[in-house]
Amino acid sequence: MTTESPLIIALDYPSLDAALCMADQLDPARCRVKVGKELFTRSGPAILEALHGRGFEVFLDLKFHDIPNTVAGAVQAAAEQGVWMVNVHASGGRRMMEVAAKRLQDHNFSTHLIAVTVLTSMQAEDLNETGVVAMPEEQVMRLAMLTQQSGLGGVVCSAQEAAQINAQCGSDFLKVTPGIRPGFAAANDQQRIMTPSDAMRAGSSHLVVGRPVTQAKDPMMALAAIETELGAS
Ligand code: C5P
Repeated sequence: MTTESPLIIALDYPSLDAALCMADQLDPARCRVKVGKELFTRSGPAILEALHGRGFEVFLDLKFHDIPNTVAGAVQAAAEQGVWMVNVHASGGRRMMEVAAKRLQDHNFSTHLIAVTVLTSMQAEDLNETGVVAMPEEQVMRLAMLTQQSGLGGVVCSAQEAAQINAQCGSDFLKVTPGIRPGFAAANDQQRIMTPSDAMRAGSSHLVVGRPVTQAKDPMMALAAIETELGAS
């Protein structure tokens, strides 16, 4: 099933059963789901099969970063399992990204390939320690442009970065944005948050929402509240 919704619900659970218990409360016509490193490492491809079997499109958020041939193989494996979106670290460089994008193209996969620029947990000092002297914002823009030049379809970015990336890379370049907090939700450990409608206005193409939906008493009601907010904006 494919959906027009910009919402991607993060299934941050330690087991297949817990993740499916949440997925069974969601409607694949109204959201996509994201599978990250912990869930995939514990449950393996079975989680993808189970989610696809329930009609969900899946963003496999494994942030690959390795030599070009290895990353291309991993991205191909994800695409063969039918995922809707997969990602790599842009800091793996142009050749790594080009070879991965070409692998998908050569096999006619429609899987979206996007990149993470700078992890939001990295501050200027952290970058500096790794030999990157640029400020995080500057490095984000540099890597977003490199991602686009390397033939990928978009980036994961904070909503604060979305407007500038939109201006530089155009509106067709996907901007997948976590750190989303509707008015009714707690910030949790997210530092820089934005409401769903502000994030869309800032140029996001997709919104990654975790706890505001998954920890709600009624997840579909929380999702409906977000849809209402988006529709009203
Ligand atoms: O629960 P919450 O809405 O904070 O979940 C956000 C999701 O997006 C989590 O899966 C988290 O790992 C992911 N993410 C993030 N910030 C980034 C990149 C990914 O919160 N910069």
